[in-house]
Amino acid sequence: MSTIHCQQLVRRFNHVTAVAGVDLDIASGEIYGLIGPDGAGKTTTLRMLAGVLRPTSGRVEVAGFDVARSPESIRHLVGYMPQHFSLYGDLSVRENLEFYADIFGVTGHDRRERIGRLLRFARLEQFQTRAAAKLSGGMKKKLALACALIHQPQVLLLDEPTNGVDPVSRREFWDILSELHVEGVTILVTTPYMDEAERCQRVGLMHRGKIIRQGEPEALRRLVPGEMLAVYAPDPMQAEAILPRFPDYLGHQVYGDRLHVFVADAVRTKPQLEQFLQAEGVPFTRIYPDEPRLEEAFIHIIEQARSE
Ligand SMILES: Nc1ncnc2c1ncn2[C@@H]1O[C@H](COP(=O)(O)OP(=O)(O)O)[C@@H](O)[C@H]1O
Ligand SMILES: [Mg+2]
Repeated sequence: MSTIHCQQLVRRFNHVTAVAGVDLDIASGEIYGLIGPDGAGKTTTLRMLAGVLRPTSGRVEVAGFDVARSPESIRHLVGYMPQHFSLYGDLSVRENLEFYADIFGVTGHDRRERIGRLLRFARLEQFQTRAAAKLSGGMKKKLALACALIHQPQVLLLDEPTNGVDPVSRREFWDILSELHVEGVTILVTTPYMDEAERCQRVGLMHRGKIIRQGEPEALRRLVPGEMLAVYAPDPMQAEAILPRFPDYLGHQVYGDRLHVFVADAVRTKPQLEQFLQAEGVPFTRIYPDEPRLEEAFIHIIEQARSE
């Protein structure tokens, strides 16, 4: 049975349909990544799963409870870290944890034991008397996660928990998520970072209020058309202009001065593409076959959906 289940979930705000019929099944203990462009409906979906926003229509079940009918049970089973999680800047790290312990009625021995454990877990022991406002961005996010864990939820809903955090802190944050995953916590996380999405067991790609593709990162990566050639060109715009005329061209994407060109057979086509660029007078420094990442697949799927 799924720990997170929703069926034809819809949410409208006046004339805007933020969530347009989402079906989602996440197994117990799974770590699932929800990705998609800004405005796709990720936050609205998570808010409905957390029971803080009522759906316009559709059903949501979390940990076996109907979210609309059992908001109290949901509150105790689910840890929700909103996109803008509110820490109290004037309160210390420890006081923030105590505040959330109060909210969830965690008292006595449990309270002392859990706060101690979470401080260690979030690697914030040495900073427990520091005001939350004075923490680095990465430490704030770890404290927010610790606060969301104070009532030992079985299910975690994390909305862009590492947005704007430096790469080292992001890695630390994900190490903590991996530990929670090993403990059996079900995790649904949204992220703008494709390297983070790669760490999920399954990824759902949301666009215009719907999950348009879903699967293991490996399977999604294979959705790019054909194989990929990376081309370094000092003037990528010039290369872009002529590429569609290359006979084996299936598509391309630009990343700074690197172009990713999709062709049926990368190894066979490499010398032909070199010749083509030379003949067209387009300078390039290197061309080599490369493995597509989730990012290429993501951009390809979104472009395809937009042109439909
Ligand atoms: N409270 C709200 N009132 C009106 N429109 C909203 C509200 N919340 C979200 N929206 C709209 O719903 C759409 C989806 O937003 P959101 O769920 O925040 O997307 P994402 O998290 O994927 O960026 C956007 O067009 C947004 O402007
Ligand atoms: Mg959002």
